[in-house]
Amino acid sequence: MRIYRVKNYDAMSRQAANIISAQIILKPDSVLGLATGSTPIGAYRQLIDRYRMGDLDFSGIRSVNLDEYLGLSADDPRSYACFMRKNLFDAINIKPENTFIPDGCATDPTEECARYNQLIRALGGIDLQLLGIGNNGHIGFNEPGDCFAKETHPVRLTENTIAANARFFSSVEEVPKYAISTGIKNIMQAKRILLIASGTAKAEALFSTICGPITPAVPASILQLHENVTIVADEAALALVP
Ligand code: F6R
Repeated sequence: MRIYRVKNYDAMSRQAANIISAQIILKPDSVLGLATGSTPIGAYRQLIDRYRMGDLDFSGIRSVNLDEYLGLSADDPRSYACFMRKNLFDAINIKPENTFIPDGCATDPTEECARYNQLIRALGGIDLQLLGIGNNGHIGFNEPGDCFAKETHPVRLTENTIAANARFFSSVEEVPKYAISTGIKNIMQAKRILLIASGTAKAEALFSTICGPITPAVPASILQLHENVTIVADEAALALVP
């Protein structure tokens, strides 16, 4: 694991964008695994700025997102599909047909998971997987206790995750209880992984991820076994890591 300890959210975002930019420049047809949530927004803004300056070209890039809420359509402003269009895709020259997100309205979620796994395989796998981390150590929506061997699967979100994500909804009751998430197996098959974290709320999860035992109780701890993981986190998030 390579760990970059940076000062704050802005520095984390710039460093993450540097790494993603290098990937895009060195392999213009990269498959990027992308995340939603608050953490990557700054990095996405940086990527947009670099695209506008003419330094990045997304025309050959393919993207696969980690997860989507079940029950929200791609047009729903609270869906991750909408989040991605708003925070990245609509501002760069990625081709819409090259962006993939699980279908939150699939009539058969299990079938949708199988289709998504097949899609990732057909794309040749993920070159660089961007990850945030939940306060409880989740990556994607692989919640504590979930089996490491799973590929894309329907998940029931924990109360902790529902509470943490309520800020994107008008009330906690509105947060969907179920989602589709790529599994730990999909994440571990990515060629490179970039995990970003900011703020004290992530400190315990990050400490357990880096220094603790490898256990499904802390899903991100499995990353210790991946041979190409970079963590970019600010001082607050790394406060417990010596
Ligand atoms: C989002 C995702 C989640 C988030 C995590 C952290 O696609 O898969 O694992 O990365 O919940 O969320 P934020 O960044 O909002 O703290």
